[in-house]
Amino acid sequence: MEIIIKPDASAAQEEAARIIARQIQNKPDCVLGLATGATPVGVYAWLVAQHQKGRLDFSRARTFNLDEYVGLGPDHPQSYREFMRLHLFSKVNLRSENIHFPDGLTADIPAHCAEYEEAIRRTGGIEVQLLGIGSEGHIGFNEPSSSLASRTRIKTLTPKTAADNAKFFGGADKVPHHVITMGVGTIMEARECLLVALGAGKAEAVAGMAEGPITADLPASVLQMHPRCKLIVDEAAAAKLRRSEYYRWVYDNKPAWQRV
Ligand code: GLP
Repeated sequence: MEIIIKPDASAAQEEAARIIARQIQNKPDCVLGLATGATPVGVYAWLVAQHQKGRLDFSRARTFNLDEYVGLGPDHPQSYREFMRLHLFSKVNLRSENIHFPDGLTADIPAHCAEYEEAIRRTGGIEVQLLGIGSEGHIGFNEPSSSLASRTRIKTLTPKTAADNAKFFGGADKVPHHVITMGVGTIMEARECLLVALGAGKAEAVAGMAEGPITADLPASVLQMHPRCKLIVDEAAAAKLRRSEYYRWVYDNKPAWQRV
């Protein structure tokens, strides 16, 4: 895992955005895995700004989002589909038929999840997967105890995740209990993973995922097994990493050909 420590949130978000932009420029019909939450907002803002300057064309790119709340339709203000519309889809030239999302209103969740997996497979697979991390180490909505081989399926949120997301719903009791999420195994099949973590509230999960044991108790730790994973953090999220000085040295001395 490459661990990149940036001075602040916007520098970390820009680092991730540059990698995604390079992917779109190198392969205009690339398949991107997208994430929601506060963390990627700045990533999308940077990509939108590049698009508005005429430097980034999304017309052939294809996207798959990680997760959605069960029971929320695409027009619900708290749905992840609406989040993506607000921050990215309405501001770039992605074609609607190239945008893929778990359907929170599906009548048959297992069949829908199997179709979602099949749709990813049909495109040839996700090339760059953007990820955030939950304060207890989830990726997508793969809560602690998720099978590290899991595929897209229904999950039940932990009380901690419901509390973390309560601000968007006006109370933890209003947060849906169930979600549809790509599985850990699904995420691990992406050719490249970019996990961005910002702020002191993520420091423990970040240290655990990068330097702790690989365990379903902290699902993001499985990314230690991913052959191409970058962990991009700000100083606050890096605060509990034991080897942070080494990671900085590696980054500062990276060969020119490895830089974005
Ligand atoms: C949600 C999402 C995750 C996200 C996490 C962290 O639970 N399902 O994909 O990484 O929240 O969110 P934030 O970036 O707001 O801290």
